[in-house]
Amino acid sequence: MQKTILIPGGAGYIGSHTAYLMQKLGYKIIILDKFIHNQKFDHNWATVIKADFADKNILEQIFTENNIEAVMHFAAFIEVGESVKKPKDFYENNVIKTLNLLDTMLKYNVKKFVFSSSCAVYGNPIKLPLDENHPTNPISPYGKNKLIVEFALQDYFNAYNLQYVSLRYFNAAGALPTIGLGEQHNPETHIIPLILRAIKNKKIFKIFGSNYNTPDKTCIRDYIHVLDIAQAHVLALKYLENTARSNIFNLGTGHGYSVKEMVEHAQKICKQELLIENCDARAGDVDILVANYNKAKENLGWEPKFSSLDNILQSALEWENRIK
Ligand code: UFG
Repeated sequence: MQKTILIPGGAGYIGSHTAYLMQKLGYKIIILDKFIHNQKFDHNWATVIKADFADKNILEQIFTENNIEAVMHFAAFIEVGESVKKPKDFYENNVIKTLNLLDTMLKYNVKKFVFSSSCAVYGNPIKLPLDENHPTNPISPYGKNKLIVEFALQDYFNAYNLQYVSLRYFNAAGALPTIGLGEQHNPETHIIPLILRAIKNKKIFKIFGSNYNTPDKTCIRDYIHVLDIAQAHVLALKYLENTARSNIFNLGTGHGYSVKEMVEHAQKICKQELLIENCDARAGDVDILVANYNKAKENLGWEPKFSSLDNILQSALEWENRIK
């Protein structure tokens, strides 16, 4: 029988790519999304319910009318800097509403959960690359939100046997332009779309911070293609179905690129110069974040396949050209 997966935040960036892949593999998809970015989503391969994922009545209706196998939860506020300015909103949306969702799952005896966590739970690295045993000392409310939910999940697993996989994403990037999927944040704050738009519109791209403890003095991040992240969700669900366990996995490539390297690579791909301005560092940005993903490789059989910088930038460029 076809299994049904509920995907809060399934019309967002990472959620939509995952939802697409899941339905390709034969799952029935119900997306619950408030469309906070006013994003376009004209796909007929999922049932789309436009509502807040904490709307109790809607949740009750979904769980009553459908035999939900698992929940993959993407609906979250994601911008680290915003979380420092508006912690109340972030705790409300990312923690309280997520706990409500878990409680409704328990009520309907749905006990498989895949959670979108983040490398922001680690805070300032004391050892690189980061593995899952690295101490967690988040420095932003956003990182704390994700860690609090991970603690709750651990307790819910122990007490109620609600099984989970928490996936700690490093920097999601790239797109599936031919399927009509890509990044549509509003406002956009992520480096790759901002670089590509600056090149296209001959506008200035601001480099945040040029005094970091890295070879070229700009921040280094581990960019992972969104399709690789989607693939990890498929494997995470299999893990939940095939074991009685819960677990936490990093999703990154093990290789980092600096902001300057990203700028140079984008110029090559676009065959155009980019105007840059060196600006102050952004609050909360650490020097280097790079993943050790061995645990996901050993337990899920997951490895990044689409995350070469060329593929990330090419697919993001094609997507930018489509939406403009
Ligand atoms: N950057 C610039 N100029 C810009 C935008 C970004 O120099 O205009 C730099 C940032 O300072 C940082 C790097 O590019 O060094 C990446 O920044 P992004 O804004 O693209 O991504 P973040 O690392 O801030 O955040 C993203 C997600 C978070 C997640 C994090 C994991 O939005 O939710 O990746 O590292 F926690």
